[in-house]
Amino acid sequence: MQALSLKPIISKNEIENAVQKLASEIKKDYADKCPVLIGVLKGSFIFLSDLARELNMPLKIDFTRACSYGSKDYSSGSVELVKDIEMSIKGLDVLVVEDIVDTGYTLNFIIKYLEAKKPFSIKICSLMDKPSKRVVDVKVDYAGFTLDKDVGFVVGYGLDYDEEYRSLQDIYELR
Ligand code: IMP
Repeated sequence: MQALSLKPIISKNEIENAVQKLASEIKKDYADKCPVLIGVLKGSFIFLSDLARELNMPLKIDFTRACSYGSKDYSSGSVELVKDIEMSIKGLDVLVVEDIVDTGYTLNFIIKYLEAKKPFSIKICSLMDKPSKRVVDVKVDYAGFTLDKDVGFVVGYGLDYDEEYRSLQDIYELR
């Protein structure tokens, strides 16, 4: 078996700029509101903490976790809730914070489960979006980076492969 290698694709600096840009858009759209940021564990934990601090506005934070069955780098269509949110979101403005949207299966599942809790609104913010891989039609309202179709599996800045690489400061393509 060949060893895995890491090809840098997004630098720490580019991530910082993207987080600032996303935060200023979100701040504008949610002026005078107090959105609930719902981080999708585990991959979004670093992005959410940077985004929340950059937003520097009244907000609430909760987390959810869903798992999709498949191999380590392929999402199958069957998604299961592993961790429910802990607060009531009824009547509130929800902003789901994801690390990456690929097939859309996970996000589609999460949106449906959150919609059943009757929030006032739901929008999606994802650090990365891979629209070319989409199987289920889900819309990302705020995307930090749109990845080309030839970009493979990515790790770093919270994203893992088999639980490794989450603490890397830049984002890499795993080869
Ligand atoms: P989807 O259900 O195919 O859209 O995949 C969504 C979830 O799979 C993300 O929240 C990630 O946790 C994981 N995922 C998808 N693509 C990647 C990747 O390139 N690197 C790391 N995790 C990924």
